[in-house]
This record gives sequence, structure tokens and C-alpha cells, in this order.
Amino acid sequence: MTATEGMAHDYDEHSEYQRAVADTATALIVDSVGAVHVGSGDAFVVADYGASTGKNSMASMRAAVDALRNRHAGQPVVALHNDLPTNDWNQLVANLTSANDSYLTLPGPAVVPLVSPVSFFEPAAPPRSVHLGMSFSAAHWLREPPRVRVPEGFYFCDATGDARAALASRADADWTAFLVARAADLAAGGRLVVQDIGTAAPDDGGPPLVTAARTLRAMAEVAAGMVADGLLTADAVERYVLPAYARTVAEARAPLTRRGSPAAGMFTEVVCRTDPVPNPYLTKWMSDHDDAAYARAYAAFVRGFTESSLRDQLFVPGAPAGEAEDALGEFFRRLTARFAADPERDPFEDWTLTVVLTRN
Ligand SMILES: C[S@@+](CC[C@H](N)C(=O)[O-])C[C@H]1O[C@@H](n2cnc3c(N)ncnc32)[C@H](O)[C@@H]1O
Repeated sequence: MTATEGMAHDYDEHSEYQRAVADTATALIVDSVGAVHVGSGDAFVVADYGASTGKNSMASMRAAVDALRNRHAGQPVVALHNDLPTNDWNQLVANLTSANDSYLTLPGPAVVPLVSPVSFFEPAAPPRSVHLGMSFSAAHWLREPPRVRVPEGFYFCDATGDARAALASRADADWTAFLVARAADLAAGGRLVVQDIGTAAPDDGGPPLVTAARTLRAMAEVAAGMVADGLLTADAVERYVLPAYARTVAEARAPLTRRGSPAAGMFTEVVCRTDPVPNPYLTKWMSDHDDAAYARAYAAFVRGFTESSLRDQLFVPGAPAGEAEDALGEFFRRLTARFAADPERDPFEDWTLTVVLTRN
């Protein structure tokens, strides 16, 4: 079983936060395009790993193509969209061909879109063909659901002892595999721009600041309430952990330099840092104080990226037979009500990890 089968069907309408994150990388995309040398008559290949249904992916692609065409107006471009085979590819193609801001509407020779429906833990493009690889809000997903019990909560940072160590080790192996696969795809001198949920170290030496930790805490407490009401088994709740990992800067760097790592020596670091990205739902609530609208938007955002994992790994094994879908609906009704009751109690907090590398 993969960690997720893809995002919920309405992900495009509820991914403003992911878009806000990717927008912070526009300058890095432009800089990376400028740093890669390709003959003006040769095809420039830009790949987006974990593209989902493409609304946000198109904007990042457009930024790359725009930057490139500013340099060479007639440069041929191939845009490769990667995601899992279970992704909604029809929606991606529909977005590409219908959106006003699609890169297909840019002046110059038509950009050729390609799809790569394979896991990004494997090579996903012809060897050494990609000049700019990008990945936004995707490479924090683990390859598979972790097989550890985390009775303390729903998130890697709630785990303790051996379970916590096992999750860190799994995340390291998966990040290493992602990097090795990108090293296979990228041309020499090509750039990789990755943004994921991250964990920041506060300046005052306080506890680590883990993206989404308060959100996952709220979700675990809602699930515990459903256990108390007989709608979910305690065993399934103990076994569930979101199969995603918010890396620190040190964890992101580790496989690039550690002796014996298969990714060691393959890249040169350009950027590796965490930055807070403001929560668009909370920002809006602070200006309109519309509790219900805030809760609906926030819960839909959370459902967009967690629904597949919650269905397969929590509600199918844990809800009474045949009632997984109803239980999932009830879970999000309760979560929405909790967000509406106190908008400042469980905000999604984000410390985005940005990693920019050059392929040696
Ligand atoms: C939150 S979405 C991000 C989509 C888009 N990049 C954005 O910024 O809006 C994460 C995407 O990563 C994809 N994903 C997760 N694991 C993957 C894997 N092993 N290989 C390829 N894509 C994967 C999911 O299917 C999903 O479409």
C-alpha cells in the first residue's frame, strides 16, 4: 500500500496553502533556470514531482517557462508532470488545457506536456534528461504507511522511543531514495528545487517547531472522541500515524554528505533552510472573524491531503464493517465543528523546508 493514493477530488479548490508555499519559491525557480545552461535550440526539460491535479503545478511550471523564454524566446520546452499512477490524471489534463493561466497559453513555441505516472522514489524521467526538477508539498510523504504504533497521537513527532527512531529512519531512507532517483533524472548542472513541510529549531533553544503538529493533535483528539462513541476502534487509532515526515535542515542534509550514503557527492547544496509561511485561512479569519467559513475552508484543506490516507489506514480497518465512508464524513464534521468553536485553538502552522541542489 502506498502512503496516499493521491489528493481528494476537490484538492485544487482547497490547496491555497500549498499554493502559497510554492509561490514563495518563484524567485528560486527563476534563479535556477538562469543557472542551468542549455543550447538555445535544445529542449529544456522541467519536471514537477508530485504534481497532483496540476492547478498549482501549472503556476510553478509557468514561472519556469516564463523565466526561460525571457532568456531565449524560442527555446523548446518539455514539461513533465509526475505523480502516482492513482493520481487523477484526467483532471490534470483538463486543467492544463482549459486554465487561462496554463503555461500552454504562453507565447513562443508550444510547450510539450508529458506525464510520468510512477512513484518519485524511482527514476521518473529518461536518464540525465531533466534540467530543472521541482517538487512542492509532496516529498514529505513516505513511501508506505509506517508499521509502528503511536498511541500518543497521529504524527511522527508524537511518537516516542523505538517508534520515533523507526519513523526517523524510514524518513531518512525515503528522502535518500528520492534524491538518488532525482540524481538519475537530472542532467549534469541541472537544478532541483524542493519544498516540503519542515521542522524548525527556534532561536531561543525551545522545542522544535513542527509543521502541522497542532492540526494532527486536533485530529487525534477528534478520533479519540469517535472511539469513545463506538464509531472507531481504539486499536486502529493506536496504529494510525500520518505517513508524512517534516524534516529538519539537518535531516534534509544528512544523506547528501553522510559517508556511505548512496546520495553522497551527487549534489551541491545551494539552499537548505526552513521559513514560516503564513496561514491563508487564519489571515482571512483575522480580518472577517467568520468562524464558520474559516472552519469549512481549514477542514477542506486538511481533508484534501489526508482523506486517502485516513480512509485506507484508519477508517477501513477501524470503523464498523461497511461504515468507513460515513465515519470519515463524521470525522470531518466533528473536526470542522472544533475549528469553528475556537479558530485560534488548533491552527495549521507551517515551517516550510526549502532545499535547492545542483546535480554534480
Ligand atoms: C499535497 S499534494 C501537492 C501537489 C502540488 N505539488 C501542490 O503543491 O499543490 C502531494 C502530491 O504528492 C503525491 N505523491 C505522494 N507520494 C508520491 C510518490 N511516491 N510518487 C509521486 N507522487 C507522490 C500525491 O499523490 C499528491 O498528488
